[in-house]
Order: sequence, then C-alpha cells, then structure tokens
Amino acid sequence: MKDISDLISLLGGTGAIARKLGINPSAISNWKKQNKIPKTKYEAISKLSLDLNINIEEYLFPNDYKGSKFSILLIICGGIASYKSLEIIRLIKKNNIELDVVMTKSAQKFLTPLLVTSLNEKKCYTDLFSIEDEANMNHITLARKADIILVAPATANIMGKFANGIADDLASTILLATFSTVFLAPSMNPVMWENLATQENYHKLLDRGIKFIEPESGDMACGEFGTGRLPEPKHIIDEIVNNLNYKKKIQKQFNNVSVVITAGPTIENIDPVRFISNKSSGKQGYAIASELSNRGADVTVISGPVDIPPPKCNKLIKITSAQEMYDKTISILPADIVICSAAVADWRLIPEINNNHSLNTKHKIKKSNHNLRFTTLKNPDILETISKSKRRPKLIVGFSAETENIIENAKSKLISKKLDLILANDVSQNKVFGKDTNKVYVLTNNNCEEWSEQSKKSVASNLANKINEMFFS
Ligand code: CTP
Repeated sequence: MKDISDLISLLGGTGAIARKLGINPSAISNWKKQNKIPKTKYEAISKLSLDLNINIEEYLFPNDYKGSKFSILLIICGGIASYKSLEIIRLIKKNNIELDVVMTKSAQKFLTPLLVTSLNEKKCYTDLFSIEDEANMNHITLARKADIILVAPATANIMGKFANGIADDLASTILLATFSTVFLAPSMNPVMWENLATQENYHKLLDRGIKFIEPESGDMACGEFGTGRLPEPKHIIDEIVNNLNYKKKIQKQFNNVSVVITAGPTIENIDPVRFISNKSSGKQGYAIASELSNRGADVTVISGPVDIPPPKCNKLIKITSAQEMYDKTISILPADIVICSAAVADWRLIPEINNNHSLNTKHKIKKSNHNLRFTTLKNPDILETISKSKRRPKLIVGFSAETENIIENAKSKLISKKLDLILANDVSQNKVFGKDTNKVYVLTNNNCEEWSEQSKKSVASNLANKINEMFFS
C-alpha cells in the first residue's frame, strides 16, 4: 500500500520538502514515522504535488482511495469481435476506471497495439518475455493489481488454456496467477461454442467461480446462425460496473473484525513413514478465508497440509497434527468469529504388541512385530473447546461431514457443540473432498436451508453474507 514515505520521496525527499515549506526536516521525518501529514500542511503539499501531477489523496487516505478507485485489466483475444473491445475501452475510461490492456498474438491480427495504446493513453502489454515490460510492470503485478480481469472477446482457445492450466503467453499466464475476479465474455462460431470440449471447459471454469457474460444468439459474422455472438459492449460494461459497485459495498463489511479459520486435513503420524488422515483439500476453508479478507476482515488461517495455493489472508499458520491445530488455534484467541472447516482427525493410533506393550515409533515399525494392534487416543475437539470456553467468540461456525442422516447429525452437532451455524455436507463417495463444488445444508438453531450445488467460492460468498447478517444483527 502507498504510504507517506512514498509521497515524500516522490516530492523530492525530506530535505527538499523542508526547504520548500520552510520547516525543520525532523518534522518531515516524524510524518514518515507516523505515516501522517498534519492537516495544516495539506494545502502546501497539495501545491507541490500539482506540479508533478501526483494525486496526494492516494497517499493521505490509502484505504478510502482503494474504496473509490477500481482498476480493470482487459485481455483482448483474436476474433471477428475484437473490434468491439475498442468500445469496451472507451466505456471503461468513461466510467473513470483505471485500465490496463493485454493483447494476445491473435488479437494483434485484428487490432494493433498502437491503436489500443492510443485509445487507452497507456502502454498496452503483449509479450510475456519482454525485458522492458517486465521491468515496468511484471506479469504478476498485472495479474494482481486489477480488481477485475475481463477477457473480451474470449475465444475457445483462451477458455481451453485457462480451464486446463496452460500458461504459454502473457494472457494465459496472468489468468493463472490472479486472485482477482475474472469475467470471460466468449465469442466464437456457434458450432465451436456448442462443441463438447468448449462446453466442458465452460462448466469447469464456472465451477471454479469464473464469471461469464454469456454469448448471445443471432446471425454471426461468418454467415451462420446460433449462440456465440459477443454481447454489446454496453451490456458487458454494465455487468462489470454492477460487480464493482457490489465489491465497493462489501469491501469494508468486516473491517476491524478478526476471524480465525481452520482448514484442510490433519495428519496423525504412526511412525516416520505411516499416518492416518483424510482427503480434505482445504479448498472450502481457503475460499472462505479469501472471501472474508476481500470483505475487510483480519483473517488468520490454521491449515493442515494441502496442495493448493495459499488463500488471501493476514496470516497463514501451517500445522500437521490435530494437537498442533488445537494448540495454535487456542493460542491466537480471542477472535470475533471462528470458522472450523478443517477435517480434523478424531484419533491418533498407538501401535502395540503383545500384552499392551507400546512400540517405539521413532523408527519404521517392522513387519516382524507379530500381533500388531492399534489403540486409539482421542484428539481434542477444537471447535467444541472454543465454543464452550470463557473466550467464546461472538460467532462460531462449524462444518459437519456426514455419510448418512446428514441433517439430523448436523443438528445434533450444532446443539452439542453450542454453535451458531453449521454447514453440513455429504462426503460419501468422494462427493466433496478435493472437488471444486460443494452442496451444503446450512443450519441454525431454528432454520435449515438447502443450498444448490455451487462452486466452493460461491458457497464462501453466500456464507459471508449469512455471517454478515448474524454477526451484525
Ligand atoms: N472439529 C474440531 N476438532 C475435532 C473434530 C472436529 O474442531 N477434533 C470440528 C470440525 O472442524 C467441524 C466440526 O467439528 O467443524 C464437525 O466435525 P466432523 O468431523 O463433521 O464431526 P466430529 O465432531 O468429528 O464427529 P463425527 O466424526 O463423529 O461425525
């Protein structure tokens, strides 16, 4: 985030500003330390900034500024409809939204980077391996800076690459490296759109929470009739602006609210090479963490071992066993909200041989140990301990992983663990663990809602709405 020190160096540094304003340099050093400029000096600093075309509001009120100023990255792919992206650029600029543009190689067969650069009054990016561009604004910055990435027109090719994790140019690399909301506005020949491969990619992306501005039906430039036409730019921009307005509304929803989330599985070692665990991927817990962070919460995630990218959060603490998850979670309380989405192993296994003699588990247990048996040692219940503790957070959310009697079992966990809210799902036959979608029942003490199957990101967003209602009521 931009701060006062950045502003001071842009204006020429401590000495230069002190001279121009006729004040002691130590005063300016204090501004830097406190990250604050006294109100009486706003006007003078504003005058200095005007000459250099610097918007001091960005530095004086970084949080408010973020709230009012949005940025979009437009990726233009190659197709007959590429020309419509010029109007999209014009409308984005008209809405006063900051814009960067990336063009694929095929897009440059229809439009030139010079044309796009002139229209956007800013360099347009085309090359993943450009030394000059990487020095200026590298592809990761491009991927992370924007609030929304809009791909318009989105070809069957970019959808295929995105759905299958191919990153062989600037546009496809950005799509894999972003945390931002991604909108695709597909445009292609109707037979290509209906093709099973395109449809599979479309559904794969939808399940991952990617948003689509659906193609329209009508006469196509290629002379055929069907679905595949890029919607009018105004329609595309209306959807984007609605989304930005929604983001603006929710981005401070949980300011100053601390949230602790447990996620993923735990692993209980038996000996140095063997363990018991479960197939939890951590995707649902991580999606909730990112969603609440995007809404301004101060989020700490305590996560078991997972293979997915880290969520957006203030702190990510990695643990292995249930006991470690318990210790870490308890140690960071108090918090305003606790969400236990982890699939915690309920037991540790203690190997024994004849006459209840426990084995030394420092080394691999050998097959030669006849009559090997295991006794169980129960792990502490993190959720239950927190909810019954003196430092109980205002709101506690649990999950209920069931293979039968889903609602009844979840209800009894809600009551016995004294929770405010529980999300129950059917984890039989690998229906949830590792998947990108989830089907949940959401129970409170006096209500049970059935949510349709949806992406885990979408469950996270709906859960954040629910938590907002309950926490602030
Ligand atoms: N949980 C926990 N610590 C444990 C076990 C469970 O915090 N040692 C939390 C989970 O994160 C989840 C809720 O308790 O939010 C329910 O977990 P689940 O595995 O569905 O049920 P259990 O309580 O373990 O009961 P059972 O295995 O008998 O269904």
